[in-house]
Amino acid sequence: MAVEDLGDKVRIVHPKNPDTSAVILKYGATVISWKEKGQDQLWLSEGAKLDGLKPVRGGIPLVFPVFGKQKDENHPTFKLPQHGFARNSTWEFLGQTSEEPVAVQFGLGPENVDKELYSLWDEGKNDFTLILTVTLAEDSLTTRIEVENTGNNTFDFNWLFHTYYNLDDVTDTLATNLMDLQCFDQLLGEHYVEKLPMLSFQEEFDRIYKNVDLHKVIQLVDRGNVVLTLERDNLPDAVVWNPWIKKSEGMADFLPKDGYLKMLCVEPGHVALMVKLTKGEKWSAAQKMIPLGEIKVQTNIYEA
Ligand code: BG6
Repeated sequence: MAVEDLGDKVRIVHPKNPDTSAVILKYGATVISWKEKGQDQLWLSEGAKLDGLKPVRGGIPLVFPVFGKQKDENHPTFKLPQHGFARNSTWEFLGQTSEEPVAVQFGLGPENVDKELYSLWDEGKNDFTLILTVTLAEDSLTTRIEVENTGNNTFDFNWLFHTYYNLDDVTDTLATNLMDLQCFDQLLGEHYVEKLPMLSFQEEFDRIYKNVDLHKVIQLVDRGNVVLTLERDNLPDAVVWNPWIKKSEGMADFLPKDGYLKMLCVEPGHVALMVKLTKGEKWSAAQKMIPLGEIKVQTNIYEA
């Protein structure tokens, strides 16, 4: 069967290739596994809680309606916890929408969110529908989100696919095509223009790259081989994160303790600015993840 509802999760399998599959936990509509020809492309902590008690450490947690912790105390998202409530609410499984590629949908509305948590967002004034579509093709996984304002109150929000990739060794991995972009280094608390032609990872890393041209792909390259090509639709920003030793030690659900060497988060989102939706308006965005690929150099390292 291509789609199996297993109660707390949904498993989808490619109709032509049983080694290509994905598992989506209803809690957070978190994709917790995506196997391409038997290889899991996503990193999932061995200590990840999958019982709905806390957001999943690994896979693809969904960040809405705020990225990180809101600093502006007058903003309606100020009282919400870090990364909002989509990743810690149980979504409804809406069913299969396509056979090949195989696609499934999940939905979230205020009725699915813990009442207390929901009321922390603008005193519960915002009515919304989120629809997540997960599409598994033989050579890619696409996650698409649609946000609709179904109420009378205008609201604004951040969106982010907080994707954890599985790597052989992060110290052998480079991330490409982010040169010459404005970035905010969350560790230094500084804004600057990224000058590295390729990012490498030898210590804690937490940067938000802004306005990454949508025609650019972000690639992960391991010792000369492209291991991931990431395409984005309507998601201008990208967060690149690795907690490294000290930060991951402080996370009880981050296991094994040297797991930071085996993962990297590349998180396409709309986080530098918020999206505003008035009554009845809709917004949609997606990421397409392709294992492997030809190297695409889309930065000019020769121009000053
Ligand atoms: C990243 C942020 O997106 O998420 C980091 O840039 C943050 O600053 C990380 O530490 C993990 O957040 P959390 O809430 O899942 O521990």
